[in-house]
Amino acid sequence: MYYKELGLVNTRDIFKKARAGKYAIGAYNFNNMEQLQAIVMASAESNAPVILQVSKGARQYANETLLKYMAMGAVKMVREMGSEIPIVLHLDHGDSYELCVSCIESGFSSVMIDGSHFPYEENVALTRQVVDYAHKRDVTVEGELGILAGIEEDVVAEKTTYTKPEEVEDFVERTGVDSLAIAIGTSHGAFKFKPGQPIPPLRFDILEGVEKRLPGFPIVLHGASSVVPEYIDMINEYGGDIAGAVGVPEDQLRKAAASAVCKINIDSDGRLAMTAVIRKELHDNPKNFDPRKYLGPAREELVKLIKHKNEKVLGSAGKA
Ligand code: G3H
Ligand code: 13P
Ligand code: ZN
Repeated sequence: MYYKELGLVNTRDIFKKARAGKYAIGAYNFNNMEQLQAIVMASAESNAPVILQVSKGARQYANETLLKYMAMGAVKMVREMGSEIPIVLHLDHGDSYELCVSCIESGFSSVMIDGSHFPYEENVALTRQVVDYAHKRDVTVEGELGILAGIEEDVVAEKTTYTKPEEVEDFVERTGVDSLAIAIGTSHGAFKFKPGQPIPPLRFDILEGVEKRLPGFPIVLHGASSVVPEYIDMINEYGGDIAGAVGVPEDQLRKAAASAVCKINIDSDGRLAMTAVIRKELHDNPKNFDPRKYLGPAREELVKLIKHKNEKVLGSAGKA
């Protein structure tokens, strides 16, 4: 099924507007109905364009057919709410040409091909191959240069390999990508920096170097959760065991969003918010066994979190 039939858009126009307006668009990961509802409801309520982000693991978890119709249902639901916000369905960290093709065939309007772990020339060749296929269908493609520390799908990197600004022009020119993810000190997951130590600022010098070489080109920031301390405390208070979790401060993200960064990826914060509320609800209501009674409040918390991100961090609220 083609994405335009699902009422989705690719990233081209929304990134152009985000660059010009100095804000970034939230790319929120989902695996289930409650997360999807929360993402689209919060985005409609804050009148923000939104990127629904699906990893390979999420696609396996939710079932690819169901996922396609869930996304289509989410678009319909939002339209029935009277909202016309642009909605993108995006593959996060695609690791092969075949996976990207399969997502495009099933209605994704945007894909990431993450060849960042391969030697440079292999990354170029793989990304080019995906772009050639995607562009024929007017699907946009995100590539990546540099390696984030932490876990990306099945790949674990101990240390950040910062993006080399001197490579970006050649990469973008030869691959034809529509946006580029870069490594400037963020990382995936909830343990981004050493606990109890000052948080090192993001490498804005690298971002500026990239921007100089690619004026106006959309840049993407992965690993951009802030790891809200209240959620960590709540998780630990109600039976969880998460120690030493630290995320990217909101002011750093705000600064990135006002520059070349057009897309900011957030997954861990949503997971933490839902887990915190579910733990509390189960603790406070030991006799309850109706999932709606703990998933409902978790969904409400996620709506609150995403509205906060759109309004106060990314600046995407009111820009749809
Ligand atoms: O960058 C990875 C995303 O947070 C998705 O994670 O592969 O566990 O679904 P996942
Ligand atoms: P976080 O783990 O910081 O939420 O990053 C998510 C991400 O980059 C998904 O691609
Ligand atoms: Zn990522």
